[in-house]
Amino acid sequence: AQYAASAVGSDGVRVMMESALTARDRVGVQDFVLLENHTSEVAFIENLRKRFKENLIYTYIGSVLVSVNPYKDLEIYTKQHMERYRGVNFYEVSPHIYAVSDNAYRSMRTERRDQCMLISGESGAGKTEASKKVLQYYAVTCPASEQVQTVKDRLLQSNPVLEAFGNAKTLRNDNSSRFGKYMDIQFDFRGAPVGGHILNYLLEKSRVVHQSHGERNFHIFYQLIEGGEEDLLRRLGLERNTQQYQYLVKGNCPKVSSINDRSDWKLVRKALSVIGFSDDDVEELLNIIASVLHLGNVQFGGEDSGNAYITTDTQIKYLARLLGVDGSVLKEALTHKKITAKGEELMSPLNQEQASSARDALSKAIYGRTFTWLVNKINDSLAFKDDSFSSKNASVIGLLDIYGFEVFQNNSFEQFCINYCNEKLQQLFIELTLKSEQEEYEAEGITWEPVQYFNNKIICDLVEEKFKGIISILDEECLRPGDASDITFLEKLEDTVGGHVHFLSHKLADGKTRKVMGRDEFRLLHYAGEVNYSVNGFLDKNNDLLFRNLKEVMCMSENKILTQCFDREELTDRKRPETTATQFKNSLAKLMEILMSKEPSYVRCIKPNDAKQAGRFDEVLIRHQVKYLGLMENLRVRRAGFAYRRRYEVFLQRYKSLCPDTWPNWDGRLVDGVSTLVKHLGYKPEEYKLGRSKIFIRFPKTLFATEDALEVRKHSLEKSFHFVCLCKCYVFLVKKEIAQPFVYRSAAILIQAWWRGILARRRAQRRREAADTIRRFIKGFMYRHQPRCPENEYFLDYVRYSFLMKLHRNLPKTVLDKSWPTPPPALIETSEHLRKLCMQNMVWKYCKTISPEWKHQLEQKMVASEIFKDKKDNYPQSVPKLFVGTRLNGEDINPKVLQALGTEKMKYGVPVTKYDRKGYKARARQMLLTGSSVFIVEDTKLKQRIDYSALKGISVSSLSDGMFVLHVPCEDNKQKGDVVLQSDHVIETLTKVAICADKINSININQGSIKFTVSQGKEGIIDFTSGSELLIAKAKNGHLSVTAPRLNSR
Ligand SMILES: Nc1ncnc2c1ncn2[C@@H]1O[C@H](COP(=O)(O)OP(=O)(O)OP(=O)(O)O)[C@@H](O)[C@H]1O
Ligand SMILES: [Mg+2]
Repeated sequence: AQYAASAVGSDGVRVMMESALTARDRVGVQDFVLLENHTSEVAFIENLRKRFKENLIYTYIGSVLVSVNPYKDLEIYTKQHMERYRGVNFYEVSPHIYAVSDNAYRSMRTERRDQCMLISGESGAGKTEASKKVLQYYAVTCPASEQVQTVKDRLLQSNPVLEAFGNAKTLRNDNSSRFGKYMDIQFDFRGAPVGGHILNYLLEKSRVVHQSHGERNFHIFYQLIEGGEEDLLRRLGLERNTQQYQYLVKGNCPKVSSINDRSDWKLVRKALSVIGFSDDDVEELLNIIASVLHLGNVQFGGEDSGNAYITTDTQIKYLARLLGVDGSVLKEALTHKKITAKGEELMSPLNQEQASSARDALSKAIYGRTFTWLVNKINDSLAFKDDSFSSKNASVIGLLDIYGFEVFQNNSFEQFCINYCNEKLQQLFIELTLKSEQEEYEAEGITWEPVQYFNNKIICDLVEEKFKGIISILDEECLRPGDASDITFLEKLEDTVGGHVHFLSHKLADGKTRKVMGRDEFRLLHYAGEVNYSVNGFLDKNNDLLFRNLKEVMCMSENKILTQCFDREELTDRKRPETTATQFKNSLAKLMEILMSKEPSYVRCIKPNDAKQAGRFDEVLIRHQVKYLGLMENLRVRRAGFAYRRRYEVFLQRYKSLCPDTWPNWDGRLVDGVSTLVKHLGYKPEEYKLGRSKIFIRFPKTLFATEDALEVRKHSLEKSFHFVCLCKCYVFLVKKEIAQPFVYRSAAILIQAWWRGILARRRAQRRREAADTIRRFIKGFMYRHQPRCPENEYFLDYVRYSFLMKLHRNLPKTVLDKSWPTPPPALIETSEHLRKLCMQNMVWKYCKTISPEWKHQLEQKMVASEIFKDKKDNYPQSVPKLFVGTRLNGEDINPKVLQALGTEKMKYGVPVTKYDRKGYKARARQMLLTGSSVFIVEDTKLKQRIDYSALKGISVSSLSDGMFVLHVPCEDNKQKGDVVLQSDHVIETLTKVAICADKINSININQGSIKFTVSQGKEGIIDFTSGSELLIAKAKNGHLSVTAPRLNSR
């Protein structure tokens, strides 16, 4: 049980506060307990404001949830959100109504203790919405079978029905609950909801007959008139016009923009059938609603004698039919009062005014009792019906949605009851919280330091004490024969409780207070502040009298609902019915008993402004509520002593990574582990205490520092924690040797639930991360052209990363592959460096592997490229053709020639055509290259030898012909002039010459023509033109004309 308690007990909620602490400067602390200055109301409100601004409407005070009405739809109630809060560990979840719901649910499941959630706050603060969220959470997350589904549906559908009949538009809230509600949800041993029960408190019946300006009657009237089908309205004798009904026009507010009566009507009709109302039930119910409207339209005239008579007969006709009563009896009952004098019953006529109030009293009685009937009917439908499992075995979660403190300009009997109710709830809160705090200290062996708090029992006593309390005095005044009035009641109060420190009246007050009090007012000093009550109407409202003869008429009704509401026994019972206040007091006492037997969770709702507007934080209004909800008092009690406590195993598990001695595992006793850990963290002795099973930390800042240190390593820790929890849970169950099969079953279910929870949280975590990434990505994309900033950091890094990864996958494989991905702007320079490096690397690798022959080949090709590339038309064609060592081998050359060469070794030989310098006659020759000279060979003879040193230059055309001229000095007698040659391998041939003669720079590539020396002083010219084929001939101008085909268009 140890473990279970630690995970789900009051600590459970506390655990949550540690998440997202890093953001606390912006979003405040998510638990007020962690406010450094916990007594400061300013700090408290500032924290609320910060969070409200960030749409964080929930904050804890320990296990109390404070909720600020956002007045707008926040996307925080989706199924995904429910999943996030479902399960055991909520380290990473922020405060939420779902967290509290889940916590209560798990406490109920694991500790088998009934739970209750007390939801309080001003009108419009969001109580009803909160209770609906809780119900929805259970409906979605709890296990279900087909049968359970029906219960779930009914539980959910009870809300629209109760709201239609019990809610109304007020100045404060368009959907204000005009009754208090306590709802039990029953769960079976599997944790599935199997039933429910509702208790209702103090319906504001006066609304049926009167509404203040800007307010409406209960929704159902408008829904029926706006949405009811034609023939239904005809049957009920109603017109589709709310303005026709006296009970609906008082507030002068037929329409409300936020309400659609017609569609609500459909919802209510559907809900009624889901809950199990038959068509007959609905018909009877609507008959009653219609009769109330007709009653409102019953008008009275006055006879001369002053006696009232009815002027509107049609209404009576409808009423007689709808209520199933005799028209004339009803007529008489509405205008007379039955009195018993001297043992005889007499009918005494009423005057106009009396008749009107008798009529209104009847309307209120009918409506009020019908409402109670409705609640009972819903209860029947929600009742736990499985005989195999008695309801005693069911566990319960109760939801209390009840009016918070009300302080108006003018406060009457209703506010008195409501505020009394809140005193009682505060009393309960104090008792339960202090008790549990004290018990915890005791259990942990830590000295209890008494907390200074205000115990409001004294005020509860002032109101409810027998004989001496305000309610007793009121009752007494109501029952007393004679001329009792509201004022005599006030005087009685002054006489009886005038000396009480929490009571004041105009008469008893000092001069200053008198100025702000009416003569008909008394003041109670409530725990949350002072409230003045006007005694006007106290007696009437407390008596809530319905004349006996009207009761009799109702008892005769044939309407099936009314026969249940007006019991004939009531007529014979001579005992006086209980007054309203006493009824309320008794029902509250019962409620307290119910709540006392349960473990409470608190939801304190706050409304941020009076205008029902989103985003407005009205500080004055909020401060008022913080005060009247007693939140500072809550916090003080909670913070007295230690701000924070945690079971050793949980503490150690969370923080063990922060100390080398406890990481990864601590083998010794837990308390020693925690002690080692906190010493390592530098906790000072006054900052903490070690109890039997928990560490208590006094100041929030100590925890913050620890939490900050953890932030870095949180991720990995979280995973391991889940697993350990699961194992512990299992071990606990096994150790206990619980033999009953159903416990094994629930153990299995529990483990499954744990595991599912873990999986779901992992999934949720992944989804969250994915969403974050996408968001960051989109933002980054939008900011991508800006200089690096937090918005685009992620995106830019990603772009870089993805470029580099892409490059990595697509690097060019060969030096010839010139493809390269386009770099992002920030990486242009880098990309260029990388490209060069990559190329160098490929070249280097290539070079390492080539053979010497190939290297030689390439060196020659390189030279050819240097000389001819982009200059000579047939160069590109030569590139793929390998250069050969020589084109003339030994057998191609005459032996005599070889002999003549002597020791000179031939390096290259090629067949060439020589053109005579004069007639340009073509002759076949061989050209041989040796280490020192070029030889032109004719058959057996070395016709000409040109030493490389004597070679002045070489000319060649830019076209695709093979002509070239070797220029020699003309003054050299040995030479007869320049040599005009043609080779079929001109690129190769000249490259060889250039290399052998080391004349790479002496090769001239000419456009148009080449001039050469024919003989000393005489010049020859070769003209080059491009044409379709190669033609070499002497032209008429005496030049050698060469036409070369165009191979490459340039
Ligand atoms: N969590 C919420 N999210 C969005 N809107 C909300 C939320 N809570 C309340 N509201 C809005 O505030 C209105 C009033 O809330 P609700 O009816 O719950 O108040 P209440 O405290 O029950 O008041 P009353 O005491 O008058 O019944 C709702 O109709 C809704 O418009
Ligand atoms: Mg409400």
